[in-house]
Amino acid sequence: MASNVSELTTYDAYLAGEWKKSSSGETIAIQSPYLHDTIGRVQAVTQDEVDQAIKAAHKAQKEWASLSLSERGVFLNRWADELVKNEQDIARSVMKEVGKGFKDSRKEVVRTADLIRYTVQEALHMHGESLRGDGFPGGPQKKLGIVERVPLGVVLAISPFNYPINLAASKIAPALMAGNGVIFKPATQGSISGIKMIEALDRAGLPKGLLSLTTGRGSVIGDYLVEHKGIDMISFTGGSKTGRHLSKQSVMIPLVLELGGKDPAIVCDDADMDVAVKSIMNGAFSYSGQRCTAIKRVLVNEKVADELVNRLKAEVEKLTIGSPEDDSTIVPLISDKSADFVQSLIDDALTKKATLVTGNKRERNLIYPTLLDHVTEDMDVAWIEPFGPVLPIIRVSSDEQAVEMANKSEYGLQASVFSQDIDRALEVAKEVEAGTVQINGRTERGPDHFPFLGVKASGMGVQGIHNSLVSMSRQRVTVMNLK
Ligand code: NAP
Ligand code: G3P
Repeated sequence: MASNVSELTTYDAYLAGEWKKSSSGETIAIQSPYLHDTIGRVQAVTQDEVDQAIKAAHKAQKEWASLSLSERGVFLNRWADELVKNEQDIARSVMKEVGKGFKDSRKEVVRTADLIRYTVQEALHMHGESLRGDGFPGGPQKKLGIVERVPLGVVLAISPFNYPINLAASKIAPALMAGNGVIFKPATQGSISGIKMIEALDRAGLPKGLLSLTTGRGSVIGDYLVEHKGIDMISFTGGSKTGRHLSKQSVMIPLVLELGGKDPAIVCDDADMDVAVKSIMNGAFSYSGQRCTAIKRVLVNEKVADELVNRLKAEVEKLTIGSPEDDSTIVPLISDKSADFVQSLIDDALTKKATLVTGNKRERNLIYPTLLDHVTEDMDVAWIEPFGPVLPIIRVSSDEQAVEMANKSEYGLQASVFSQDIDRALEVAKEVEAGTVQINGRTERGPDHFPFLGVKASGMGVQGIHNSLVSMSRQRVTVMNLK
């Protein structure tokens, strides 16, 4: 468990059923993006500790897989209860570690408990199927097939910084319910929150060794984890660059990748402007735009562009800016490096003659919400994912041109279409290359039981509770050859 070293807490890793310091003797300082101070240290685990963790997971998984779904569910429901019991403490950790507003951090913890409970119920109702041989032409075959789902073995769950609890549990819960062991590698900035989440799972009594929490920089320990022969499936959420790298390292095992996005909001000339403005504001700027499913470009019909830009300007200038402790919408970005990157996109657009509607102000890693109009295809911000509060407005002359621009992106996570004519909206939605298209609403992953996927550079495979249970298990067919 955590141990206090002077005034700073140095957290243990959870390895093969034990909370302990790494034999590497190395720890990683976790900096708060808004306190600009170290808020704790986590272990940099060694390759040997990874080996031990994976070995222990395989050993414990045999016993775990023999438990019934309802027996497994007891542990997970207890985990959900522990998370809710410690909601404030965990939420405070999320806020300090990734700079997310306290209210949003608390919502993330509760959302995660709901996700875990729903995963238990979903698994309990996945009954498999039976098949009769004579259902196929060629005469009655006295065969009866029984199709069940069985675990894959040990799942490697790698999560990003921006939802350090929810996106981690969205992997761990289905992996465990499907009967697997788990190796959990949290984002470095998100590790303390991940540790608190796993402390709750440990208190729920999960069998020792079944899950390990291997903290450490992805750039140092990531490849070793991904290439490890003891890993039977990888569920990754993070940037497209990392995802592409990881897909080249992993060999012949199932892989689910949830990656970056450049979600467009397509605003048709008959859009309900109140709905469009509210959805775009919330979709583009909540948590400073640090959401994979954030609206990251607006493709607006030129007939209504001026009205939309004026209304967005007024709303952007009302956004609360400051500390996550005050539940500001615009908070300091995760790192100075991220802020530099976002600023570079703004600078590039302005150099190439974009119109600055509002924003382009910066205080260290706090980027003020920035609206850029008349963005053209030669500007990086039209195509690159900022992961920050900058919104490019691209004017189009028709629905067809909007679809063409939407699909020109390498990304295909989600898109929003705003029109008061549902047939027209469906027509546009049908043509957009994305995992999900929202009609008259903001782009978002939730609710968590919906399928969630990205196409093209936005991912591979499908998450969402049911699909995650399926991707973290396999079919086993037993055929009875009857007399
Ligand atoms: P990231 O830099 O790609 O890191 C994601 C995770 O991968 C972290 O745990 C990271 O560890 C780890 N990692 C880094 N290098 C690795 C390697 N070589 N092998 C294995 N793991 C490695 O992404 P992020 O900055 O945390 O999150 C922001 C990005 O994630 C954005 O692009 C966003 O769009 C995307 N995202 C997508 C979704 C979705 O559901 N589609 C959801 C959230 C975020 P370290 O932290 O130690 O580097
Ligand atoms: O970037 C994290 C992604 O999962 C966003 O979730 O529900 O805010 O769209 P949500």
